[in-house]
Amino acid sequence: MAGRIPQHFIDDLLARTDIVALIDALVPLKKKGANYSACCPFHNEKTPSFTVSQDKQFYHCFGCGANGSAIGFLMDFSHLDFVEAIEDLASMAGVEVVREGDGQQAPPKKQLTHLYDLNEKVNHFYQQLLRKPESSIAVSYLKRRGLSGQIARLFQIGYVPTGWSHVLDKFGETASQRTLLQELGLIVSNDNNKTYDRFRERIIFPIRNKKGQTVGFGGRVLDQGEPKYLNSPETPLYHKGREVYGLYEALQAVNKIQRLVLVEGYLDVVALHEYGMPNAVAALGTAITKEQIELLFRSAPEVVICMDGDSAGQKAAWRAMVNALPVLRSGRQMKILLLPTGEDPDTLIRAEGAEAFSQRVINAVPLSDYFFDELSKKYALSTLEGRAIYLEQAKPLLDSVPDGVFSSMMFQKLSDLTKVERLSNTKVSPKMKRPLRADKKPPSVIRHVITSIIHQPELAKKLSTEELWLSADVPGMSVLKKLMGIVSASPELTTAMLLERYRGAEDEKIIQSLFQEERLMSSEQSSAEFSGAVQRLIQQSSEQRLSALLEKSRSSKLSSSELEELTELYKINS
Ligand code: UTP
Ligand code: MN
Repeated sequence: MAGRIPQHFIDDLLARTDIVALIDALVPLKKKGANYSACCPFHNEKTPSFTVSQDKQFYHCFGCGANGSAIGFLMDFSHLDFVEAIEDLASMAGVEVVREGDGQQAPPKKQLTHLYDLNEKVNHFYQQLLRKPESSIAVSYLKRRGLSGQIARLFQIGYVPTGWSHVLDKFGETASQRTLLQELGLIVSNDNNKTYDRFRERIIFPIRNKKGQTVGFGGRVLDQGEPKYLNSPETPLYHKGREVYGLYEALQAVNKIQRLVLVEGYLDVVALHEYGMPNAVAALGTAITKEQIELLFRSAPEVVICMDGDSAGQKAAWRAMVNALPVLRSGRQMKILLLPTGEDPDTLIRAEGAEAFSQRVINAVPLSDYFFDELSKKYALSTLEGRAIYLEQAKPLLDSVPDGVFSSMMFQKLSDLTKVERLSNTKVSPKMKRPLRADKKPPSVIRHVITSIIHQPELAKKLSTEELWLSADVPGMSVLKKLMGIVSASPELTTAMLLERYRGAEDEKIIQSLFQEERLMSSEQSSAEFSGAVQRLIQQSSEQRLSALLEKSRSSKLSSSELEELTELYKINS
């Protein structure tokens, strides 16, 4: 597997990139004071609140809160994942992406290319086999299921007839080829060292990634048999929790997708596509993961989770929603559609037609309603006890929603329903130690110091990471200390590089919310003000240390170093 992209490479790439030029090419910018501005590409607006800062190499929208570096912009604007965005920037800058371990291991990229190529050839082979006379039984099965030849071609549906070694014979001549087949999960060996095809006598659904590369396969038995579907195992190309079936086909069919409908099965996707709903995709027989939802939101602002209304389907829908909460940033909308028990989209759309089925999709329940309705079914809001459990269940879930308008509105509704005011301060689960949240901001002085450093990393040069007061037990101090550590190790960091360091890190949320404190974004803090805040911080922590030592001296004897410190602190504080 390819190694991680090292931080120094990301810093270097951001240093070579000019975010103003990058964004201007996609969203024309106007110079406005020290910054550049435009109408925000991430939400609808008439007056520009989207600004790009050349100094910080960062963009920020005061309207919807969208913000990020050049990497973040490409991810959101061009619907790329992190690595794809890095690859794009690298090619614009004319450099090769560096991976950790490059030069030591066998070149990983070349290896993957072989795997992709072979998968593609096998995919072709399965499609050819479907067209052989001995496959007529499969063709009639597909016809019986209502598939047209055209849709079968579009989804590149194939077939493997009876036999143990179609793929093995065709592609496994040499040992090295057999190794590749094995890595792709296309052949398996049993305990007696016999090797044979994984997929035998099955209809084949190739699973393609967003770029259209074949990453894996699903194989269905004809009519009855167990297991009904056999899928590729996890391979270097295929991670089932990170792919969805049909996304490539959907992206090909629709120019700009407004809504994606996530259904359960391969044949549901194919049937919906055939009936004029090409925006259907399927999770691949697993619980729907956060990565899958994120993948969908990168392609469309609305995602509808469509499940069978039986109890298994209901559970799956709830779990999908829980997994989706952390990725529900502003501008993303999720809905839930539970079908009549025992129905799947394939049977339903064939029975009632495309019009009726699209109505169901349009009338799907918004996540906010679904969330509170489901909890209300379980916990009675009419009693204090019921409201207490309701709150205990709901609060940690809502805590996982990114800060923003949606999150505040959900908390507001929870507070109305449970009749508990000021919800953000309730301690529902004290044993759960989570990173500092935006609603538990550190006190203002330390906040000011942290925010100033994020906006002007060079300010931190005035401080040393050795300062004693950095160890004071003050909320937020550990965040500041870590920040100082990062900045002092790489003094040339811009705001954008600094914020990239926090992508996915424990402190990401708090750093993000401090960064967005508007007053600092609009008017630069003078460095005098920064020094003042640091002075107050030193003062505060020494006062705190002083009273802690005095407190201790009342109950026990202070060590000589503590005594020394006490004397020193007296001097400072007098
Ligand atoms: P379903 O059992 O609902 O099948 O499984 P389906 O898609 O409706 O197929 P038909 O209509 O019976 O032919 C839904 C999905 O769960 C996964 C597959 O991805 C399937 O499409 N699944 C199901 C498996 O991976 N393995 C199985 O044995 C069954
Ligand atoms: Mn079905």
